[in-house]
Amino acid sequence: MNVYIQELRSDHRRLSRLLRYIQENLPGERARWQPDRIRAMRQCIEYICSYSVVVHHDKEDVLFRRLAARDESARVYIDVLTAEHRLLTHNAEHLRRTARLVEDGKAAYGRVLGKSARAFISAKLRHMRLEEDTVFPLLENRLTLEDWKSVISDMPPERDPLSVDDCSGAHAPLRSLVMAPAERVG
Ligand SMILES: [Fe+2]
Ligand SMILES: [Fe+2]
Repeated sequence: MNVYIQELRSDHRRLSRLLRYIQENLPGERARWQPDRIRAMRQCIEYICSYSVVVHHDKEDVLFRRLAARDESARVYIDVLTAEHRLLTHNAEHLRRTARLVEDGKAAYGRVLGKSARAFISAKLRHMRLEEDTVFPLLENRLTLEDWKSVISDMPPERDPLSVDDCSGAHAPLRSLVMAPAERVG
């Protein structure tokens, strides 16, 4: 497997575990957010906002642009995924603002946070499935060696902070959540 596709799939695996953790720890519709849960939720969202919907999307956008130039029939997928990148980034920022309000004691925003988180998780998982099942295979099949050589310089150099052994700082508590055996996204 191409090394860049492998890295994107690994990003997906870690993120899908994190999203499932969030999903399993959302309070019920009428329940309040307990301090430990909202703290953990905010840490997850901060990570998603700093890597998943920025750097990971930027890496894919570079590859998607090249694929669209190489294969006209792939445009239908690329247009959908590129629009979803913008929407997911916007929605992640909304989650971050709402989580901060709840953590600051504005309990009235708790239901909005739960509802928005559920919508975000299902949209992001669906988005990753389309990439893994359809567009990553197209990237591997259609891009030439010359394409891969020329896109490297445009790719953001940052790696997923949860993928490195010496993960430290704000994201460190999340690393154990994503270090389970490999599984398929979905
Ligand atoms: Fe994507
Ligand atoms: Fe992705």
